[in-house]
Amino acid sequence: MSRTATQRHYLMVRPTYFDVEYSINPWMDPKKPTYTELALAQWEWLHDLYVDLGHRVDLLEPVPGLPDMVFAANGATVVNGQVLVARFHHMQRAGESDAYLEWFRANGYRYVRQAQWVNEGEGDYLVAGKKILAGTGFRTNPEAHNESREFFGCPVIGLTLIDPRYYHLDTALAVLDDETVMYYPEAFSEDSRLVLKEMYPDAILASERDAAVFGLNAVSDGKHVVLPQAATGLTAQLREHGFEPIGADLSELLKAGGSVKCCTLELRAG
Ligand code: ARG
Repeated sequence: MSRTATQRHYLMVRPTYFDVEYSINPWMDPKKPTYTELALAQWEWLHDLYVDLGHRVDLLEPVPGLPDMVFAANGATVVNGQVLVARFHHMQRAGESDAYLEWFRANGYRYVRQAQWVNEGEGDYLVAGKKILAGTGFRTNPEAHNESREFFGCPVIGLTLIDPRYYHLDTALAVLDDETVMYYPEAFSEDSRLVLKEMYPDAILASERDAAVFGLNAVSDGKHVVLPQAATGLTAQLREHGFEPIGADLSELLKAGGSVKCCTLELRAG
């Protein structure tokens, strides 16, 4: 099966002030040392890879005192040029929303609104063709799903996460193209597992081992799938399905519980 890449537009935030100063997910241990230089080099590699693949990458200036800001996926959800800016669950990240509001307003986006209900952008909202797969359980409030259904005017499919290691939907599921996803079933409630099975009978299923190295925190352009290089099982499965996996080493960012997808917000024009 041959796959087709489409050009994408991403927003990223350089990890200039990256650090693990607090713990808001099980991966974060403030006692472990972090190396900002290494985080910067790993992030630069990802940024340059997107550019080499032909994608357009915009940058938002990082803000001192907001060490998780590198995780741009959490800042907003953008569909048809409409921007729903995130409202963060933890106060440690609340300050990030203003930076996104300002950036989108300054960059000519006309429909920009900060969400009323807590939702952590593309951490929990994954656009899959004409619908949005929406995580809840740890961060995004289930009420937020109605808000985004109304705001974007498209079906929103709620999925409940049950394992604290997979606290955002984008740590447990990746959209590969409009019809294809890969996910780790054990991260979801029994009901959500049934929903996923029904919707995606041919999905690629991740092993516990691949999920635990953040293999599902991946970015696909329809053909190239950038994912943590340690996810060797998924890499082989993706190849069998006609995708071109590209392994990334973002070990520093993993100390904060994030990887490829977390660093990448997709800007979808109208
Ligand atoms: N330390 C960040 C947090 O817990 C990591 C966010 C990762 N982002 C993501 N899209 N999963 O909020």
